[in-house]
Amino acid sequence: MIIPIKPWLEKDDASTPSVEVDSSTDWNGMALSSSLDMDEQISPEPNRGVISMPGAGNRGPLPFYHQPVLSNEVLHVFQPAMGKQIFDGTLGGGGHTEMLLEAGAHVIGCDQDSEALDYASARLERFEDQFLPVQQNFGNLDAVFDELGIDKVDGILLDIGVSSRQLDSADRGFSFMKDGPLDMRMNRDAGESAADLVNNADEDELARIFRDYGEEEMWRKAARRVVEAREKSPIETTAQFSEVIASVIPKRSARNPATKVFQALRIAVNDELGVLETALEKAADRLLPGGSLAVITFHSLEDRIVKQFLKNASKKEIDRPEWPEPRPNPEYRYNLVQRKAIEPSAEEVAANPRSRSAKLRVGVRI
Ligand SMILES: C[S@@+](CC[C@H](N)C(=O)[O-])C[C@H]1O[C@@H](n2cnc3c(N)ncnc32)[C@H](O)[C@@H]1O
Repeated sequence: MIIPIKPWLEKDDASTPSVEVDSSTDWNGMALSSSLDMDEQISPEPNRGVISMPGAGNRGPLPFYHQPVLSNEVLHVFQPAMGKQIFDGTLGGGGHTEMLLEAGAHVIGCDQDSEALDYASARLERFEDQFLPVQQNFGNLDAVFDELGIDKVDGILLDIGVSSRQLDSADRGFSFMKDGPLDMRMNRDAGESAADLVNNADEDELARIFRDYGEEEMWRKAARRVVEAREKSPIETTAQFSEVIASVIPKRSARNPATKVFQALRIAVNDELGVLETALEKAADRLLPGGSLAVITFHSLEDRIVKQFLKNASKKEIDRPEWPEPRPNPEYRYNLVQRKAIEPSAEEVAANPRSRSAKLRVGVRI
């Protein structure tokens, strides 16, 4: 079900952008890396603090939630002049959305996590009808647009994965660093938890998840050990699950041996790769010509999907050896800003270590 939290009103074109967009960003100088980086859970904490809330009345400052990554680059992509409409499919703490709103854009901020919506709605209250929070999975973006009576927008942003708040909250069960219920659902109102999966999936299914979503070399043994352990007693907490995994996967580096299987479980519980593919398929029909699709990913499984999708969708023609000449590509929808992924600067990584594996890819709708 779609839950628009307040009605979407007509744009107020009289507002003045208050943020300078840095249009001098040199993306071509940024390096491309393709390594799988799944150790975000052991990285140093990003800068903490409180967000001041000019429009929050007497609610007071909000605690730290999430440091947005590649912010300047996102602003550069969307050029969010006043009156532009942007769909932020991963609202989180509202960091990206706030910058877009400050620059004058109207933003539909979508997240499947009701906690994120509560936080971001309080943070962005001062933007009134310029901002519309919606609780929904971004894989259903077409249904959101239909329900709101919006055909196409100027930009779609997906900043994939979990927020720092989700990762750091023990009760969400995303982290092996903190003991809590083995949950991992971004939307706590729906679907099976990680504990449900770990205690009920058959061994082959667990093995496939650990192999395909974690690229864990010891996938088969890890799955077997989980099944052995749950026969003695159900695995209900992150600490129990880490212990089971640590008993079969040796500590090979500074990383917790459970890093890869935790990520694998999270991807499976939230069907993260399937939803990403669905959203990519749907986005083009909802972008105005010249509108941008910007996707930020944090590990190579996701980045590979985005890269491949944009590669196919940006070819004007396709060719096959058996054809006398190339033919128009029916999938041609986007032009690429650049072929390589845009990555954070050294300064950004130093200020926010969790940004280090971020990759931004952009397609401009033809
Ligand atoms: C990396 S955070 C986004 C942070 C945000 N850009 C900011 O500046 O604060 C990712 C957010 O997307 C949400 N999310 C992830 N997958 C989603 C999906 N399929 N549908 C809706 N929300 C999703 C998560 O709940 C989380 O709040």
